[in-house]
Amino acid sequence: MINLYRKHIFPYLLDKVSQKLNVDRQRILPFLAGDVLELGVGTGVNFSFYSSNIKSLIAIEPDAVLLQRAAKQKAVLAAQQADKFFLVQGDGHALPLPSNSVDTVLCCLVLCSIPDPLRALCEIYRVLKPEGHLVLFEHVKSDDRLTHAFQQALNPMWRPLACGCCLERDTFQLINQAGFLTDNLLTYRHNALPALVGTMLEGVATKP
Ligand SMILES: C[S@@+](CC[C@H](N)C(=O)[O-])C[C@H]1O[C@@H](n2cnc3c(N)ncnc32)[C@H](O)[C@@H]1O
Repeated sequence: MINLYRKHIFPYLLDKVSQKLNVDRQRILPFLAGDVLELGVGTGVNFSFYSSNIKSLIAIEPDAVLLQRAAKQKAVLAAQQADKFFLVQGDGHALPLPSNSVDTVLCCLVLCSIPDPLRALCEIYRVLKPEGHLVLFEHVKSDDRLTHAFQQALNPMWRPLACGCCLERDTFQLINQAGFLTDNLLTYRHNALPALVGTMLEGVATKP
């Protein structure tokens, strides 16, 4: 039953919820440049929003079922763009990349789901070149006390249903802890999302 949920229902739900965020992807993705790493690509919903100016995209995803869907998204891209995309089954806790090797990392709704986000952020820091950019679009812990209390209360039920997604991570603090400069990060309330997952952290953190 759990397998059925993970294989068929969760990827379907992920795609459905994701469609609400296309306007955000359209705002954020076209500016990514150079050799890019996207962590936790899921079903590949971001692929069509990358500009043709990127040099390459390494798309990391641990889940084989999601990665297969991502491969289908890659297949509908223009050949010139698709040739720059490399899909890799891998884990954000131990990135299969050399240190100081990528210009930009995208974390889009993924630091909520990675079991040890600080470890993943330290890995991202390692693989980014100096002055490289970590681009973020993440739902995080709410600043509103009542909403935060709901996030805490519902988290134990939510996490198994959302395949590990945590409702109340203090991702901003973790990014600081990993050593990034965080001047260009913003927290705001997303009006298309329910309050439980509607506090967003968006912007660019830089490796000094
Ligand atoms: C909510 S989905 C977001 C998918 C996609 N980034 C998007 O924008 O819709 C969270 C993603 O994080 C991935 N993930 C979970 N643990 C991970 C890990 N250890 N390393 C990399 N990705 C991970 C999941 O497999 C899933 O694809």
